[in-house]
Amino acid sequence: MIQVDFEKNFMSWRENARKFLADAIPPDQINWSQDELSLFTFDASSQDVKKPVSNNDFKVPPELISQFKTLSYARDEDRWNLMYKILFRLCYENTGLLSISIDPDINKAEKLQKSVRHDIHKMHAFVRFKKSFVDENEVYVAWHKPEHLIVRPGTEFFARRFGDKRWSIFTPDESAHWDLKKITYGAGMAQRDFQGVDDWDEIWKTYYKSIFNPARIKIKMMKSEMSPKYWSSMPETSLIRDLVRDAPKALQKMAENINTSAVVDLKLSLSELKSKSSSCQACPLYAKATQTVFGVGPENASIMIVGEQPGDQEDRTGNPFVGPAGEILSQALIQAGIKKESVYITNAVKHFKWVPHKNMRLHQKPSGPEMHACKPWLEAEIKKIKPQVIIALGTTAATAIIGKLPKIKDERGKIISSLACAPKVIISWHPSALLRAGNETESTEKMQQLVDDLKLALSAEE
Ligand code: URA
Repeated sequence: MIQVDFEKNFMSWRENARKFLADAIPPDQINWSQDELSLFTFDASSQDVKKPVSNNDFKVPPELISQFKTLSYARDEDRWNLMYKILFRLCYENTGLLSISIDPDINKAEKLQKSVRHDIHKMHAFVRFKKSFVDENEVYVAWHKPEHLIVRPGTEFFARRFGDKRWSIFTPDESAHWDLKKITYGAGMAQRDFQGVDDWDEIWKTYYKSIFNPARIKIKMMKSEMSPKYWSSMPETSLIRDLVRDAPKALQKMAENINTSAVVDLKLSLSELKSKSSSCQACPLYAKATQTVFGVGPENASIMIVGEQPGDQEDRTGNPFVGPAGEILSQALIQAGIKKESVYITNAVKHFKWVPHKNMRLHQKPSGPEMHACKPWLEAEIKKIKPQVIIALGTTAATAIIGKLPKIKDERGKIISSLACAPKVIISWHPSALLRAGNETESTEKMQQLVDDLKLALSAEE
């Protein structure tokens, strides 16, 4: 049995796994746990190992690397062994292993990854900062207890979101510290050691009250979304009783707002428009959404991509196309030779529309009045960006851009130059149409068509 001496992180595991794999060391001959006393570094020449019958030109699929990276953050002692087992089996037993979701190893890996991703979302949603001072410098501090070992993948979000403030996030395992330039990591801290209530609690309570949404008062749902185990570190939970009591009046006020459309001042700059849109209540969708998801990308972009509406991950992060559909779009852009950062990406509707289903938020198509209510934002974005080419993905986006419901199958792949919004408009498949495709052939064909349409946009822009 080989006892591996490695730092418990993905890079160190990968370095070791690569050597073991090249020497065809079977997983059951390796102990990745560091609990044993006799640690020594692996030396292939000294091992008596069974070689598999055949080797091949095995290349680790890039998506597997990123999946393993996620998996490496799971709080599960067996994860290193599981990852190596999958790698070994993939290389020496079955190259199609990854598509067998009922395989116990694949199944366990998928479950763990999902749980890690979910935990990262929870961290983004539930971390609450308190204002504090270190050497007279303002610092925001927070304590959070994640389920997995996610301080590193989980805190990058805060650097993007609160990059202009110094902050520290403590967890029992590890802490992360942002000094306005980079994140450094330090020791963890128990909750009892973390300084308790201060003025920041009051400020946070006021903020929470202003964004409180009466349509969301479903205690059962709140418990599933916001597990009570996080409540102790969230000052706003003491407000919930009062807010629930006042809900009916607020709900009525909300109902009165239906069927209007956003009022947008075109004199505002793009970033001012973005900030105004964050308080838009032109249709009831704002009520169940976490935030408005406005477009992103350079103001001088010549290509604008319009999608339907934010999905679950977009709603949580505040950026368009960052979830599964976004991943497909990124792939398609790469294949078309378009840099994602060079394109302005937005949606026809800026709030996530969903219904609860089990523990999930199920996406729902926006209605005509909801699209109408949101249209001034899209029009304002188009006026500010002045794109040469607009690519509308899917029926909702295409309807918002061309003003009538198209059949994507018939209308895609052509340049429309008769519209006032932009010199050229192209309609294509929405990435989620690929996810919904009945079989792989259909999905591959749609992907190819999406790539072709993006290439068409690139040539039309030049
Ligand atoms: N689907 C969309 O249409 N837009 C997004 O931003 C994400 C998914």
